[in-house]
Amino acid sequence: MAEITVFDHDAVLAAISPADAVDAVRDAFVQHASGDWTMPPKVYLEARPNGDFRAMPAKGGGLAILKWITSFPGNQRFGLPVVMGVVCVSSAENGEPLALVDARAVTALRTGAVAAIAAQELAREDSRTVGIVGCGLHGSWAARCLAAVEYGPGVCSDPDPDAAGALAGELGWEAGSREDALACDVVTCVTPGHEPVVRTGDLRPGLHLNMLGADGPGKAEAETEAVVRCRLFCDEWTQASHGGELTGAVEAGLVTREEVTELGAVLTGAAPGRRSEAEVTLFDSTGLAIQDLAICHALMRAHRQGAVDARSVRL
Ligand SMILES: NC(=O)c1ccc[n+]([C@@H]2O[C@H](COP(=O)([O-])OP(=O)(O)OC[C@H]3O[C@@H](n4cnc5c(N)ncnc54)[C@H](O)[C@@H]3O)[C@@H](O)[C@H]2O)c1
Repeated sequence: MAEITVFDHDAVLAAISPADAVDAVRDAFVQHASGDWTMPPKVYLEARPNGDFRAMPAKGGGLAILKWITSFPGNQRFGLPVVMGVVCVSSAENGEPLALVDARAVTALRTGAVAAIAAQELAREDSRTVGIVGCGLHGSWAARCLAAVEYGPGVCSDPDPDAAGALAGELGWEAGSREDALACDVVTCVTPGHEPVVRTGDLRPGLHLNMLGADGPGKAEAETEAVVRCRLFCDEWTQASHGGELTGAVEAGLVTREEVTELGAVLTGAAPGRRSEAEVTLFDSTGLAIQDLAICHALMRAHRQGAVDARSVRL
């Protein structure tokens, strides 16, 4: 019988720093773009009326994972998180189950990490200041990862002053208005995507936008007209065109596949990133299983080095 290790939320966050997460996720995009890591499309299982489950598989570097994660938007009334789940980690050599990992911690790290990588690749070289619009769970991790790769200081903006104040206090940044955040060099939006927080009038030459909040159908954080005015990048075209920030513009026939570059292609040098100082670049993150796999690799490495406190269970 296989013995598996169980990594809880705190163990994952203690084992992997934001800087480690950035390195691991960067490598994942390169491996995937090079064809070494594989990732079938995510599968949605509706659980109406309250939410849905998502199954996200990926394989590479000797591991195979399945992230099994929820979105149950009304869960607060039960005192439960909206997003919960587990990542099953197996050997890709012989199929042996190796670990079960708290999916919230993995998601937090990998989502924050991609914001930092997109900024490093696509923002102007002299970019420093960071605007965070939406300072909840994933906005906070994006800010931590950006700070870990030496962006900042930043402006934290959120209708909930406690959320903005807590994040600003943690990082030594400032809380401010949406306009203050949008005036920064690298703007990262991580709101629920119910209303536009980036409007056409906000675009300035040289701005870089990370759009993380719109990760499913019906969500958007920018006006379609603003999206169309930007040079466009995404994590993966199929996801971004069906359930991401780009979806509205794609469905309106205003943006085609040829106009959007995947981040992995920029990282491998197969496609150019920013082409001028003046361009406004927009990166649409929808969240990929290869990012989760990257964090699992980092976790298993840390565990092998004895740097993680975790229990094992015989199946
Ligand atoms: N791209 C990805 O990989 C990825 C990963 C995880 C979550 N998400 C998405 O990111 C979004 C945020 O998730 P979360 O877990 O951080 O949620 P959360 O509830 O913890 O945080 C959302 C924050 O946005 C704030 N907010 C709401 N409306 C706002 C507005 N108009 N302007 C500024 N702030 C506003 C809220 O007050 C809250 O603090 C969700 O849509 C989620 O599905 C994307």
